[in-house]
Amino acid sequence: MQDFTGKVAVITGGASGVGRSLAFALGRRGAKIVVGDVDTAAMEQVDADLREAGIEAVVSHCDVTQLDSNIALAETAEAHFGGVQLVFANAGIGAGESGALWDYSEKDWQWCLNVNLWGVINAIRAFMPRLVAQSETTHFVVTGSGNGALLVYPDQPIYTATKAAVHTITENLHYQVQAGGLPVKVSALFPGPHIVDTGLFNSGRVRPEALQKESSGNESGINSVDDMKRMAAEFGIELQTTHPDEVAEMAMEGLEKDAFWLLKTTPETDAKIRARCDMIMNRETPVPDQVGG
Ligand SMILES: NC(=O)c1ccc[n+]([C@@H]2O[C@H](COP(=O)([O-])OP(=O)(O)OC[C@H]3O[C@@H](n4cnc5c(N)ncnc54)[C@H](O)[C@@H]3O)[C@@H](O)[C@H]2O)c1
Repeated sequence: MQDFTGKVAVITGGASGVGRSLAFALGRRGAKIVVGDVDTAAMEQVDADLREAGIEAVVSHCDVTQLDSNIALAETAEAHFGGVQLVFANAGIGAGESGALWDYSEKDWQWCLNVNLWGVINAIRAFMPRLVAQSETTHFVVTGSGNGALLVYPDQPIYTATKAAVHTITENLHYQVQAGGLPVKVSALFPGPHIVDTGLFNSGRVRPEALQKESSGNESGINSVDDMKRMAAEFGIELQTTHPDEVAEMAMEGLEKDAFWLLKTTPETDAKIRARCDMIMNRETPVPDQVGG
């Protein structure tokens, strides 16, 4: 898609972080924006800020864990703007995991799988029938993570599992639309190249009442990127971060070329990906340094 002018872009999890930056990047290029989210305060803020920037937008409650809520978001886009040409299945959470995998609370698993995995599945089911039915080129973009899709960071097994699954789904979606000669371009967006300074590490703010953490003691103690920076500093590491606007600009550049991989890495990450491939090809026993940690 060379030109976003007049196109309608739906962004789940668009009230904060990467999704919010995508809304502005697309809006500045002339797209009409539909944000779906569950964080009322952030939704009000993004609504006001998009208006102030002169961007045509609708901000609507959408809980991605519910198929009906995704379908309602599609209908909202159609009612306001007459259709949808770009979908960003972007909403995601971090469950604040720490400790032994076998001790994790079932509610951590459920919440993370519900948002990160079912959120993408529901968006595919709600929006793909609408995208494939159009004669013009449309886009379906899934926000994944290198943690799971490319590497396996050993300290967030639930998150990693969801992002591994989400990537295989994204790749399969791409193969299916290609095989069918359908007008949808599928892309995999990887926020980075460093940890992106967003609300992801404070996802507890939107955790549903029914899935609150049990008192299992599995608290990571990390609630913000600043907490991560402090923890890294204790190990003598200066943690680098990326602003979400940079991620959105990287995504725009890729989408303008209909790229599948919306991925920017550092030389260090590239070396880890290569080491991981070598480890598999050489049948070596994994060690954390080779898999991502
Ligand atoms: N921040 C990073 O370093 C990083 C790295 C790789 C991938 N990602 C991915 O980027 C995506 C965006 O996350 P972010 O980093 O911008 O975090 P963020 O917390 O700033 O944004 C996520 C948004 O999703 C919304 N959300 C949460 N649960 C929802 C639900 N049930 N229904 C609808 N919306 C919901 C939140 O309210 C929030 O607005 C996620 O998929 C995340 O996994 C982030």
